[in-house]
Order: sequence, then C-alpha cells, then structure tokens
Amino acid sequence: MQRRTEENHHRQTNTRPMKKNTSSSAGTIQQIIPHQSRSILSEVEQKAQRILNHNLVLVKHHGKTYCRTVPSKQYYTHQWNWDSATVAMGLVHFHPQAAYDELRALISGQWENGLIAHITYNPDEELYYPQADKWRTQQFWQNGVPTSGITQPPVFAIGVEYVYDHSPDKQAAEAFLEEMLPAIIRFHEHLKTYRDPEDKGLMTIIHSWESGTDNSPRWDSVYAHVDLDKIPQSVKEDVNLHRVDDQIGEVSHRPTRENYYRFMGLIDMYAKWDWDYHKIVARSPFAVKDILFSSIWARANESLARLLKKVGRYEEAALYKEWAKQTKQAIAGTWDAEKKQYTDIDVSQGRKEKIAEPTIATFVPLWAEAVTDTQLPKLIENLTDPKTFWTPYPIPSTAINSPKFEIARYWRGPTWPITNMFIIEGLLRYKDRHPKAEQLAEQLIDSTLEMMIQNDFYEYYDPTHGKGEKFNQKEIKEPTLHFGFADFSWSAAIFISLYERYRKH
Ligand code: GLC
Repeated sequence: MQRRTEENHHRQTNTRPMKKNTSSSAGTIQQIIPHQSRSILSEVEQKAQRILNHNLVLVKHHGKTYCRTVPSKQYYTHQWNWDSATVAMGLVHFHPQAAYDELRALISGQWENGLIAHITYNPDEELYYPQADKWRTQQFWQNGVPTSGITQPPVFAIGVEYVYDHSPDKQAAEAFLEEMLPAIIRFHEHLKTYRDPEDKGLMTIIHSWESGTDNSPRWDSVYAHVDLDKIPQSVKEDVNLHRVDDQIGEVSHRPTRENYYRFMGLIDMYAKWDWDYHKIVARSPFAVKDILFSSIWARANESLARLLKKVGRYEEAALYKEWAKQTKQAIAGTWDAEKKQYTDIDVSQGRKEKIAEPTIATFVPLWAEAVTDTQLPKLIENLTDPKTFWTPYPIPSTAINSPKFEIARYWRGPTWPITNMFIIEGLLRYKDRHPKAEQLAEQLIDSTLEMMIQNDFYEYYDPTHGKGEKFNQKEIKEPTLHFGFADFSWSAAIFISLYERYRKH
C-alpha cells in the first residue's frame, strides 16, 4: 500500500507582467497556433500552475520540512534532479518562493562528496521502483535524506540562474543565490573530478538513467555488453517481483524486462563497489561520454560563471568559463560529418567506440553553443529534414527513419517538451549565425505549446501527430496523441516558461 504524507499546500497563483521577449514574432504564432488555441493560452497556463500545485509534496527529515514537486503522482513520487531544476523555471513565474524551496529541497540530500543524486526519496512513498534501500547508499545520506547513487544532467546551475534572473524581489534572489552557490560549486567539482578524470571536457555517465534519456537507442550497443548471465539471480527476481512501471503505465511505452535487469544489475554492482566513482568509471561495463550530458554541463558552467560574476568572484568565474570552453571544443570534436550529427563515445572497460544513433541528443550542443560554423548548416539540415526530425510535432527523441524508432516507447521516438525547450534556447543562441535558426525556434515554441494545449500535460507525445501508420507504427492502437504518465510537472513548467517569455505579450 502506498502511504502518503503530503499535505495539499496551495501555492498562490499571482500572475505578474513579464519582460517582453524581443525575439518572438506575431507572424509565426498566427501560422502555427490556431486562433482558438491562442485565445486559451492563459487559461492553459493556469491549468499548468494547478498541476504544479497538485504535485507539491511536503516531506519531513530530521524535523525540517522540504517542499518538493514530484514529476507525476501516477508513478514518479519522489524528487528527480533535472526535473526539479526545470520545474523551478516554471514556478518562479507565479510563485518565486516555491522555486527557491524546490531547489533548496533538491540540495537537501547532497552528499559530502558533492553528488546531487538523480532521485531524492520521500521515505513515506513506496510506489516507485527501485525504492531507496535498493541503492544501498545509506552511508552517504545527509541530514537523513535518502537518495539514489547516480546523478542526472546538471541543469541545476541553469535553473538557479533562471530563477535568479526572473525573481521579482532582487533582495530575496540574492539571498537565494548565496545559499545555492556553494552547492553548485560542490556539485560541479564532484562531476569534474569523477566524470572527467582525463580532463578533456567530455563527461562520463555510468548508467543510462544518468543521461535523462533512459531508454534511448544510444545505449543499446553499450547494454549489449552488460551480460545478462552475469547479473545475479537475486537482482532479476527482485525486478520480476517488484517492478511496477509496466503495470501502472502502458507496457508498450516502457523499457523491456531485459533492460530492467541490466539497469538494476549495474546498481547492484556499484553498491558492491561502495559507490567508488573512480572505480566505477574505470571498470563498469557502462561508461559513456554522453553528448547531451556534456552539452548541459558546458551550458551549466556558463551559468555558474555568470552567477559568480554577479557576486564579484571573477577569478572563480574564469575557471568555470574555461571548463565550458573545453567541453564545447570536445563536443565539436565528436562530429560525424557523414551522419551530420555529434556522437557519444563508449569508453567502458578501455573501449573507445563512437555511438552514432540518430537521436535528439545531437541537437543539445546548440544550447551549449558548441556547434561550429561549418557544422551548423549541416546540423540544421538534419533537424529540418521531414524524413528524420522535422515531424508534425517535432522533435522526436529518435529520428523517424531510424529502424529503432518506436512511436510511443520511452525515449525511442516520442517528443518530449524538455528536450524541445533546450533546443529552442539553443536555436536562439544561433539566431545571428544561421538564417533559419530564429524562425525554427519560433516554430518549435508554437508547436510545443500547441502539443500541450491539445493534449494536456503528459510525459511525452506522438511526434507524427497521429500519422504513425506512415512510419510502420501500425501496432499503436491508442486514439490519443500523448503517452506516459499524466499531469506531468516539467511539461507544465515548460509551458509556463515558454508562454511567459515568448508568447504572453
Ligand atoms: C524518466 C525520464 C527521466 C526523468 C524521470 C522523471 O525516468 O527518463 O529523464 O527525470 O522520468 O520525470
């Protein structure tokens, strides 16, 4: 039975005028967002605010109460790292205090070695599998806050900068920043030490859950090396007995059972190695230089550098700017000219193999401004090709012409608002360097908003907008165009953020 301790805390919904964004163009909105949708944008925004209120959970640890937004009460009933950083970007537009609280809660369980884990658990919730004890990380828990042992793309610093920049009360924002800076620095130092031991700029992930794109085809060749026969029977039995995502959610949307054995097999191995990340990175059968994670890392170091400058810490700022620069160059160096994409690199157990699956990850370097002038037109060509990524509801998580494309399965095809937002921001960084970049960003803003206006705030959406049969996806019988779990926090937050900045005025 699921136990709940959350109270229904009501976040006030005051709306205030926001800065007008000069890059939005009314011309585009008329083309993409139909008239009837435009007139209900603010109504939908209020619905998004209600979802964030509804997903707020109060959790007590050692007498302290933390306010966290869970991704979805249908299944994801704890706090997820990059979800929270994104949720804060929505919250700040109608309840800045809630945005501060969200990020405060995110760092409440930061380990002594600087890790901010991918899940911060609510001990009163048992629905999600794996539960906190499966990680065997108790020795690292701080302030009694249970966490997992891996991390997620470090959107945290970017979230802090966004919240700071959009806070109406500058004094409160400054106090918040002072509180967040030590945590960001410890987190970044941790990542640099353990995930870039070569000091070359590309970041190593040790589990596909760290990529945020958990089930992406990018990981297939790596998981093929994770020998099912070597995974202890007890781990498999635990999965067989306790895994519930495929019962609560639709089985055709979720990862396969074999993959779940591998996911949990890695966790079991790392726990046996006492979460020694030097050892894990060197010996794990899953160690990959991830292009999406590295892009966010570079972008996050830019945020950190800017935040430090705001408080007059120029020397430290220069260091993180340097880290960002190093990573950008390294990302550019993974470019595959023939495939018009960036590539992950499998570095497990001494391997050095390029992974060139055509997925959404290849566009995230735009956000880090890592794309060179020669790469840019090719990357945009790839993005705007209707045979690959430019679908009716772009951008699919896997190219629609890939043999691995699956319309509804988790990160193997569907469109996710979170990656759309990264790419919108990325295209806007290139608006003066590519003639189409700004127009594409505008189109993506509209299609992302429209996708949610039409289908509510789900975890992910049908990129073909119901035209799946054209892509050999006949097995999908659902009449809906949205998939995964409902009332999803970051979808709601992204709606608010995009609407407030680009479409409100
Ligand atoms: C899934 C996603 C991951 C996200 C989590 C909570 O595991 O793959 O990126 O953080 O759900 O929304």
